[in-house]
Amino acid sequence: MSMKIPFLNHKPLNQSHQYSEHDTPEHIAIVMDGNGRWARKRGLPRVAGHKAGVSTVVKIVKAAVKFNVKVLTLYTFSTENWKRPKPEVDTILRLPKEFLHLYLPELISNNVRIEAIGDMGSLPAHTREAIQFAIDRTRDNDGLLLNFALNYGGRSEILNAMKEMFSDMNEAKLSLDELDEQRVSKYLYTAGLPDPDLLIRTGGEKRLSNFLLWQLAYTEFWFTDVLWPDFSEKEFLHALEEYRQRKRRYGGV
Ligand code: FPP
Repeated sequence: MSMKIPFLNHKPLNQSHQYSEHDTPEHIAIVMDGNGRWARKRGLPRVAGHKAGVSTVVKIVKAAVKFNVKVLTLYTFSTENWKRPKPEVDTILRLPKEFLHLYLPELISNNVRIEAIGDMGSLPAHTREAIQFAIDRTRDNDGLLLNFALNYGGRSEILNAMKEMFSDMNEAKLSLDELDEQRVSKYLYTAGLPDPDLLIRTGGEKRLSNFLLWQLAYTEFWFTDVLWPDFSEKEFLHALEEYRQRKRRYGGV
């Protein structure tokens, strides 16, 4: 039996009298960094940090539902993460299945839609199948879109888009005159999604690590030293509050 997440009964922030609807970011992207250090500080193996990171994902998904965020994109496994020791890679790639096994019914009852971006073809079958099952089961939901970046790399995404565009040009499906920024966006994994309004990176590093390179052009960045397993709704709210103070000018004045 699935339980409805009680947070949902709260009023979304953007319906409160204090905030206009533009005060809550529509799309939040998160680099969930710091799992390894969190584990090391406790004398545990790195994989214990990744497992603890799943609990934070649960908390932040609940918070995103509560605050009426439309899209939450989580950097779960990058194209560079294959360089890690095999047991660590295997553990990380088992986490989506374990997470969905435990939480899919609850996500469904909260109207969450699951999606994924990245090169799914090179993932182990068990990861791909668990994600595909969740995508299929939640296809008609129109609440929070929970988007896992899995085997994702920004440069390879842009490169793939370029190859597809050239191929479409060769086949006369696309002309050079038609090519503009909107058209390029349609060739990316994130086609149809709004660009992130807010990027959160935990764990103290201040870099993009090949995440959403095209899509983050006008995104507000928020960094915290808090390690991902220690990140909580309180810090998430802090990021939302700071976002509200920012003036987004998109290159204007
Ligand atoms: C980066 O921290 C984290 C990752 C590469 C894995 C992120 C995965 C999760 C948080 C769990 C995913 C959850 C679900 C539900 C699929 P790091 O290992 O680089 O940390 P460090 O910089 O301290 O070494």
